[in-house]
Amino acid sequence: MKSLHESINDYLNQNTYPFHMPGHKRKPLPWLNQVNGRDLTEVAELDNLSSSDGIILSSLQRAAKIYNTAKTFYSVNGSTGVILAAIYSATTPGDTILVARNCHKSVFNAVELLQLHPIVINPEFIEDFNIFGSITAEAVEKALADGAKPALAVITSPTYEGIVSDVGRIANVLHKAGVPLLVDEAHGAHFSFLPKHDSTAGLKSAVMCGADMVVQSLHKTLPSLNQTALLHVCNNMVNFDKVAHAMTMFQTSSPAYFLLESIDSCINQMFNCPGNFSQLYRNMSEFYSTAKCFKNLRIYNSPTHDRSKILINTSKCNCTGAELELWLLKNSKIQIEYALGQNALAIATVCDEKEDLERLLCALQEFDAQCNPTNCNAQGSANANLAEIFKTPSEVVTPPALAMRAKHVFLPITQCIGRIAAEYIWFYPPGVPIIIPGQIITAEITGFAQNMLAAGQKWHKTFVNEDVAVLK
Ligand SMILES: Cc1ncc(COP(=O)(O)O)c(C=O)c1O
Repeated sequence: MKSLHESINDYLNQNTYPFHMPGHKRKPLPWLNQVNGRDLTEVAELDNLSSSDGIILSSLQRAAKIYNTAKTFYSVNGSTGVILAAIYSATTPGDTILVARNCHKSVFNAVELLQLHPIVINPEFIEDFNIFGSITAEAVEKALADGAKPALAVITSPTYEGIVSDVGRIANVLHKAGVPLLVDEAHGAHFSFLPKHDSTAGLKSAVMCGADMVVQSLHKTLPSLNQTALLHVCNNMVNFDKVAHAMTMFQTSSPAYFLLESIDSCINQMFNCPGNFSQLYRNMSEFYSTAKCFKNLRIYNSPTHDRSKILINTSKCNCTGAELELWLLKNSKIQIEYALGQNALAIATVCDEKEDLERLLCALQEFDAQCNPTNCNAQGSANANLAEIFKTPSEVVTPPALAMRAKHVFLPITQCIGRIAAEYIWFYPPGVPIIIPGQIITAEITGFAQNMLAAGQKWHKTFVNEDVAVLK
């Protein structure tokens, strides 16, 4: 059996080009080299992330100045750790929390761990691409008018596919009710550095739009190593000491120094080189104007969308997103971020050169010219139900923490309609649970899950059991 080291070497020897995370795209960057030689520990000269008063404190202060925040914290446990810490610091067990239905599972994990009562609001749905749209200020307003008194509200903007919400309007609505806003900007760390440009006009970091706390994964869209993320605390609506305490709870006490170095160098380099982003979005404009001429493939484009997330839809071709993904790999040695249903997502960052984007464009042109535009197949209809499950209210009637601990039985998915879920189920991507413990399972959810399984997609569940855990 091959070691992991050998398997990774084999993979790298295939020389595929990554249109996926991490954002550094494996390009040589001074702060990403010689990892093991720079894997240090908390000796006196090198300070300590958990109680910084030396070089790490200076680095954190420099970051807060760059981002214009009250405080910025570093995470070596991704946005996952930061989300747990941020929600911990702004809530007390038993509190109500307003949660967008398309939040990442780490948000729902926090809800469970901290014994919170979620009020779930649905995002809009973009029907012709089968993806989550924006959260509207009106949806937030309605949840508050219905009597919700949440300790915190959490939304995701941008989404995995790059759809942004109007964070400014949402923050206004929440602040009038005295509710702080946490924005999961895991997929938008680059927004903080974007210069004014036609195609970036709507893309402002939530830090600049009135959010109280903002989470960013540096590794997703910027040249930084996996696991590196930031928590921005934008004002004093939340207690800094509680946040600092929570950040030590949800990450290791032995952070790798090369990860801290990656965070510090990435931020400083991006701040000092805004031209890189102008170039990227100029390249993206050219990419999109050529892609407009595709006959069969459709590329998502709208003013509330980040063009560096290239969302390709195959519904007019006789194939699935996964088939396109495989074709790109075999024919052009391009690996994309994901394929789901009849979508495929490629991610571009400042580390992609013009010729890298041209390589993707040429491959897509070739595919577009040769694909056979007949009917959609079963995968398309499976995906169509996604709209339905997130359009119906997702009522959570038992707090997830209780539902996870309650007595449960396992039932075939077909027999779960009307029962209360006792586990999480999600399909990846995008890591958004389709079933949350404590939620009533609807016919739309069971239908969607069955179709996805029939189409060969793998589900992820809390329990290793082919049936679904529901309350007894
Ligand atoms: C919207 C969203 N938030 C948070 C996370 C977690 O980020 P990380 O991988 O940095 O822990 C993800 C991961 O994919 C995500 O998609």
